[in-house]
Amino acid sequence: MDFDTVKDLSSKYLFQNYGRLDLAFVRGEGCYLFDAAGKKYLDAVAGIAVNCLGYAYPEWVKAMQDQLTKLVHVSNLYYVEEQAKLAQRLNTITPDPITRTLFVNSGAEANEGALKTAVRYTKRHKVLAALNGFHGRTSAALGATGQTKYQASFEPLISNVYHYYTYNDLESVKSLIDRDTAALMIEGIQGEGGVVPASEEFLKGVRDLCTDLGVLMVVDEVQTGMGRTGKWFCMDHFGIVPDIITTAKGLGAGMPIGAVMTTDEIAAVMTPGTHGTTFGGNPLVTASGCAVIDIISRHHILDNVNKVGKNWVDDLQKLKQENSHIVDVRGRGFLLGAEIDTPEKAVAIRDYMIAHGVLTNVCHGKTIRIIPPLIFSAEQKDDYMKVFTEALQ
Ligand SMILES: Cc1ncc(COP(=O)(O)O)c(C=O)c1O
Repeated sequence: MDFDTVKDLSSKYLFQNYGRLDLAFVRGEGCYLFDAAGKKYLDAVAGIAVNCLGYAYPEWVKAMQDQLTKLVHVSNLYYVEEQAKLAQRLNTITPDPITRTLFVNSGAEANEGALKTAVRYTKRHKVLAALNGFHGRTSAALGATGQTKYQASFEPLISNVYHYYTYNDLESVKSLIDRDTAALMIEGIQGEGGVVPASEEFLKGVRDLCTDLGVLMVVDEVQTGMGRTGKWFCMDHFGIVPDIITTAKGLGAGMPIGAVMTTDEIAAVMTPGTHGTTFGGNPLVTASGCAVIDIISRHHILDNVNKVGKNWVDDLQKLKQENSHIVDVRGRGFLLGAEIDTPEKAVAIRDYMIAHGVLTNVCHGKTIRIIPPLIFSAEQKDDYMKVFTEALQ
């Protein structure tokens, strides 16, 4: 189907809830996408930090083909072998106290599950979330998303249990947190909020406050998890052990899956009937999660993220010194942001890059966000930077 037909049908039959770019892809290979006209694009968006193995990664494709022919869905009325295997694998890559997993279908759902678990465990109802954070768009997750642009027109939100602290400001957390607080939600790097990292001091202070007051520290690793920052989870850089970790995006390499992970003790409150989802953790998506962890481990892909990510930050910093349109460079591993002086310029840069065959993303108005597949090579990074540099000029 040609692009115009795709666009016409989409305009006519779909909800118009996304502001889409004039692009549609028909296939992908490695870190490249191709449109119907055969034009090739280097992809530094990866389906918004999802396609960790790029496109058509042979070992992953084989794992999916094998699973497709065996079993796709059975429901959680029964035991699911691939679910058990993936939970076991997640146990090996999360901090020791985090032992158990609940599978869901998306990042927002993982956060919903985490909040329900925290409320049930603590028997408290207040939730603290960061201003400028992002936790998803379902009702409870939207409540925790401290940005009026997402909440406006949906108020009152399902409850008024949410209180918003200022990110990287421990005094702000101290002024809100108390023994009525069930959970404090936090991202190690605010992804949608413009690639804003939390400081180590802040994260450690939050961890201590939560421990002192019996508040569950829920770390949202939906975007930062599964190796995106160069370690399996962003908190691993700081040695911080959350009470609950949520993840999604990269976990399925494109298959829709999310996970809530916590300790034996906390998980124990979620008895049969307290939570669940029909599709959650079906054989196909959990086989994908197993393949993702196996492939990343076997091929030392996190070494690539660390090495190329570090050089990428250096390149961006160097460019910032030469070019006044870049006002800040932030992030870690393959979750990087270059803040541009105006939203108009950020969009113009993105559009120039797309026209020259490089996909990049603008988030939070004026931050060029770099979230490529974890297999993005040093040469591909150089190709990106060449076009980015041209775009800035
Ligand atoms: C940190 C974070 N949490 C939650 C979500 C929501 O995930 P989903 O879109 O899969 O519901 C996102 C999505 O961008 C995210 O970045």
